[in-house]
Amino acid sequence: MRTSLLIVAAGSGTRLGYGMPKAAVPLGGSTILEQCLARIPLTAFSQVVLIVPADSPELAETGRYFAEQNPDADIVVTTGGKTRAQSVANGMAKVTEGTDAVLIHDAARPLTPAGCFERVKTALAASADGVVTALPVVDTIKEVAADTVKRTVDRSNLVAVQTPQGFSVAALQEAQQHLTTLSPVEAESITDEAMLLERAGKIVKTVSGSALALKITTAADLHLAELLLTDLNS
Ligand code: CTP
Ligand code: MG
Repeated sequence: MRTSLLIVAAGSGTRLGYGMPKAAVPLGGSTILEQCLARIPLTAFSQVVLIVPADSPELAETGRYFAEQNPDADIVVTTGGKTRAQSVANGMAKVTEGTDAVLIHDAARPLTPAGCFERVKTALAASADGVVTALPVVDTIKEVAADTVKRTVDRSNLVAVQTPQGFSVAALQEAQQHLTTLSPVEAESITDEAMLLERAGKIVKTVSGSALALKITTAADLHLAELLLTDLNS
């Protein structure tokens, strides 16, 4: 099965507030993007498409260097768009003809262990249309109206999803076709590719994610990632 990995790294990192794209922010002596790239099981993929911001020659250079250091891998660097969905679309346009499946991964989850990628790939090959990494929800979840609790939600069937997420290319294309039949409001409410597949009636499965796959959104997340890296390296 030919599988491509798309790494979306074209966001601006507004909430992190470093005044530079999030993927370029320092982490563990290198950058968020370099930490992410270092953990990818390259041999599992026929192709890696790295999507960087159009206005970041530094991140494009990181991608070129990664390709140079891994001459046996097929690594393509391209630029993203205004939204994550547009960045994914730009990446999909670079996927080689005849590819059976794609995994999509946020560079903002730089400590994601190789095992997460392998579990998604294996579950996809075992016939699902889509596969997401997920962890059980541990906090008690309340539904509220403004500041008033309406009820406590049963969390036994709830999971929090992470990336990588994987899809059969055929199912993803069908789901994107389905998107064109939705109203603009409905289309706007679709926040990730897995949701797109769900809406199109496709089977999306979950495999175990990892606490290390946390997403760096705020300065507190970056601090936590630094601490985790120190632990991992000691
Ligand atoms: N992403 C992207 N292109 C965009 C927006 C987001 O490739 N136009 C990527 C980010 O680089 C990140 C992932 O999607 O790896 C998840 O996005 P998020 O955590 O929201 O990152 P940013 O959009 O960079 O952060 P912010 O929303 O705070 O600006
Ligand atoms: Mg964002």
